[in-house]
Amino acid sequence: MDGTARHGAVSRAVVDQFEEGDEIEVFVEPNTRFRLPEHGDTDVIMIGPGTGVAPFRSFVEHRAAQEATGRNWLFFGDRTFSEDFLYQSEWQAHLRDGALTRIDLAFSRDQQEKVYVQDRLREHAAELLEWIEGGAAIYVCGDAGAMAPDVHAALIEILAARHDGDLDAGATDLETLRRERRYLRDVY
Ligand SMILES: NC(=O)c1ccc[n+]([C@@H]2O[C@H](COP(=O)([O-])OP(=O)(O)OC[C@H]3O[C@@H](n4cnc5c(N)ncnc54)[C@H](OP(=O)(O)O)[C@@H]3O)[C@@H](O)[C@H]2O)c1
Repeated sequence: MDGTARHGAVSRAVVDQFEEGDEIEVFVEPNTRFRLPEHGDTDVIMIGPGTGVAPFRSFVEHRAAQEATGRNWLFFGDRTFSEDFLYQSEWQAHLRDGALTRIDLAFSRDQQEKVYVQDRLREHAAELLEWIEGGAAIYVCGDAGAMAPDVHAALIEILAARHDGDLDAGATDLETLRRERRYLRDVY
């Protein structure tokens, strides 16, 4: 965009391993379940650090186009505010026009201690519970190795608060949300 050549993890690997004119095979792995709620008045909680934020751009745009009345809350995290706030101006515009109700950010390398999206979830546990009890659907996208299990554990803790901190009961609640398709993940 500013004339600087930028390489991500995949583009770098492609440049290193292939030459112009080479044919490479790519495939799309669809996730047909990772879809917005059927009804536009359902609130949506989106948790997408790093590249995991990608589907939520279209979620928010789609909800705006649908004139959906449900609220949209995004948790985004990445390494640094200055380098990695992906689509910053779009989120700010969506906040202004109301397409995005709320955004909470976790930049992991802007301070000594790591801060991740699950820390923001815990900070806003009471409000998240209100959204969930009001029927909100929760979406998680991004890294499957560390992020998704850690976010899963944080959600269990948050739900456990309704059962005097009983984590088994929190896990049962999250499993119920999953079965009701109100807890959906697209992780890789
Ligand atoms: N070449 C580059 O400069 C570059 C830049 C970005 C991404 N990448 C690569 O691209 C791939 C995908 O990247 P991505 O953007 O999806 O992810 P990512 O850049 O690896 O991570 C995104 C954010 O998630 C944080 N994170 C790490 N562990 C976490 C955990 N357990 N729970 C919650 N958050 C956690 C990261 O923090 P910390 O990393 O600070 O712990 C970072 O703030 C990765 O392989 C990554 O290494 C490369």
